[in-house]
Amino acid sequence: MRKIPLIKPFVNNSVFPAVKKVLDSGMLTDGLVTREFERKVCDYVGIQYGMANPNCALALELSLKALKIKKDDEIIIPDYTHPATINAVISAGGKPVLVDVDMDTYNISLSAADEAVSEKTKAIMPVSLFGQPVNIEKLISMKKEHDFSIVEDAACSLGAEYKGFRAGKLSDITCFSFHPRKILSTGEGGMLVTKSKEIFDIAKQMKMFGGRLIPGTKIFEYYELGGNYKFPNILAAMGIEQLALLDNVIDDRIKKAHKYIDLLKETEGIECPKEIPDTKHTFQSFCCLLSKDIDRNKLILNLKRDGIESQIGSYCLSIQPVFKNIKRGGELINSKDIFNRALVLPLYHSMTENDQMYVVEKLKKEIKSLI
Ligand SMILES: Cc1ncc(COP(=O)(O)O)c(C=O)c1O
Repeated sequence: MRKIPLIKPFVNNSVFPAVKKVLDSGMLTDGLVTREFERKVCDYVGIQYGMANPNCALALELSLKALKIKKDDEIIIPDYTHPATINAVISAGGKPVLVDVDMDTYNISLSAADEAVSEKTKAIMPVSLFGQPVNIEKLISMKKEHDFSIVEDAACSLGAEYKGFRAGKLSDITCFSFHPRKILSTGEGGMLVTKSKEIFDIAKQMKMFGGRLIPGTKIFEYYELGGNYKFPNILAAMGIEQLALLDNVIDDRIKKAHKYIDLLKETEGIECPKEIPDTKHTFQSFCCLLSKDIDRNKLILNLKRDGIESQIGSYCLSIQPVFKNIKRGGELINSKDIFNRALVLPLYHSMTENDQMYVVEKLKKEIKSLI
């Protein structure tokens, strides 16, 4: 039977000699290749400082620790996101405040975030979910009235653009993921980028167990608690090679996403993801919304029987048992609704038009049987 997975990571041929070169050098951990990868991601985003980390979850945690979050500091986050977003806030010692998301973008509701801001707000953590960039202009304008930092969780959105600005360029700190579900993948990996040398220097010290070299020596001195947030040369070599082709891979995804939108238009029971004017949505996930009467779990199982892998999208945090006592900034209606109705379809570089037509044919058939 035909098998269509949700994702097949794109690994270009140049990765193999680049990784071999690092293996031959014997310098496997964080080093010069990591520095080169950081420089190249910064140039791509258009920002000064970048630090590669073991994954995006740790990059987010490190970013908030670098902001020196205190016990009563509130961090506003969207209720519909990966648990990594809220875990980072709690691990860094802050108080998360959950706000609702927007039905069109699945990203943080800017009006809900605005209403939740108080004198306790230390940061807003917008999430540019599924490759859809957040409206960063509006968030920056909110900062003019209140003093908070913007720490963008762009785990899914390297290469996404808002009004021509790449995700990561305008926020105070932004974190990306290089997990295999992401468009650029190094197996596991993440990176924080910032325009602030001060934040970068604090994060750099924390990355090295809290220490820095005594000038003119090879000896570290330790100033604060830190950890191991390093990213190895060997994975950086993969990242450099993938970055060189990233824009081509994104353009191809956008073309395939448009194909899905075309094939699914006027299909009863399913709504395709929306593109907002002046933005570049990279479709890291092609996340649709099913109508309320469709049993999504049954649909996922039926598609599996047809050889097609699909998935639920992201999570509504406020209904997870572990987060039930977390502060809410207003009602969380859209978040629950999206969590219950989202369906991610397969989308990957080597997927053919024929594969997409097969997915759509089966999807239409299964939806019809469930309405
Ligand atoms: C919005 C969001 N933030 C953070 C993460 C965590 O990324 P990582 O797996 O690199 O830690 C993910 C993972 O999918 C995510 O979707």
